[in-house]
Amino acid sequence: MSQTTPVTFASPTKPAGWTWEATNQEVAARYGVPIEQVVRFDQNTAPAPPSAVAAVLAAGVFEVALSEYPPSDYGRLIKAAAARYGVAREELLVGAGADEILDLVAKTFIPHGGSALVPVPSYPMYAILTEQRGATVVRVPRRGAADGYALNVEAIRAAVRKAEPPINLIWLCNPNNPTATAEPAGVVASLLDGLLADATAGGGLEPVVLLDEAYVEFGGESDLPLRLSYPRLVVTRTMSKAYAIAGLRVGFGIARPELIDEIATYRPPGSVSIVSVEVATALLPDQALVDDRVEEVTAERARFAAGLREAGWDVHPSATNFVLVSFASPAAADVVAEALLGRGMIPRTFPSGHPLDHCLRLTVRNREQDDRLIAAAREIGSPA
Ligand SMILES: Cc1ncc(COP(=O)(O)O)c(C=O)c1O
Repeated sequence: MSQTTPVTFASPTKPAGWTWEATNQEVAARYGVPIEQVVRFDQNTAPAPPSAVAAVLAAGVFEVALSEYPPSDYGRLIKAAAARYGVAREELLVGAGADEILDLVAKTFIPHGGSALVPVPSYPMYAILTEQRGATVVRVPRRGAADGYALNVEAIRAAVRKAEPPINLIWLCNPNNPTATAEPAGVVASLLDGLLADATAGGGLEPVVLLDEAYVEFGGESDLPLRLSYPRLVVTRTMSKAYAIAGLRVGFGIARPELIDEIATYRPPGSVSIVSVEVATALLPDQALVDDRVEEVTAERARFAAGLREAGWDVHPSATNFVLVSFASPAAADVVAEALLGRGMIPRTFPSGHPLDHCLRLTVRNREQDDRLIAAAREIGSPA
């Protein structure tokens, strides 16, 4: 099995950057849709922040503080996050979104000329950050749709064993973006056990593993406890998804204190704004806020998926706040994307040649916005 897996090694020339879908303004101008009717189904964000945010902002605590930089140690935020995630304060690093933590981890552990492994398809930033380091991206395909795009543990281990020079970092995402799937229980643990065993047998150091749990609240099982058995594990969490404050840019890295210290060397001073610090610190202790939101999103996800399926669309199972929809071909997906844009709804598309270029990714939003998309699906149908 692992012998036939087409692992690819791509050495960078000029790193590719992030590609965005059209802005609301562009869609409004291009398709003649009133801007207030444009809806973003491409960013896995919520239609509105929790109402508690307004209360924090209204308290006016920023009047004095806005002229100052945020507290250099983010002390109160770290205390609230450590309590929320059940870890020690020394195990936690604050970033401007999980994206900043990913960037710091790449800077810390991927040397120029090194390499990092990405099970594909996954979040594009992993390959982008690796290439920005002047390092090689080793792509190991995930299993197919019928197997829930699961990690191919054996193929990953084989690629790591074979790599020369050794792979510095492995990027994991669970639940995975963009497939929306969660690994079956125990799979990440078995991969880490295998990597440790292989490193011990080979006399080398196990690679750093970055486990991105951006969507874990919506349907996965957190593997945070694995940092105790796999000392080179870094887990990232975000307040952009289940806490619905993507615009405030707050994320965390969680790892053993020695690793956190190493990563913190690359931390810029004050990248998380004082407004973000205040709001995030106030929201974190509120467990009901996340529970309610997760309940709301998972119920709406089932309704959204059922509506799209009734319209004839092939919706994959989801453990996240978005769904992946397959169409007959890349050209068919393009036709649907264009038809949605014409109605003011922005889907996430995949470039030609991407393993999911026959798919669109759609965020679960609220009943009204999702009903608009379901109605459009009925009109558009399933192009051949
Ligand atoms: C897998 C994954 N990781 C990280 C991020 C970025 O999270 P943040 O908003 O915390 O930077 C995203 C955003 O969509 C994501 O899908």
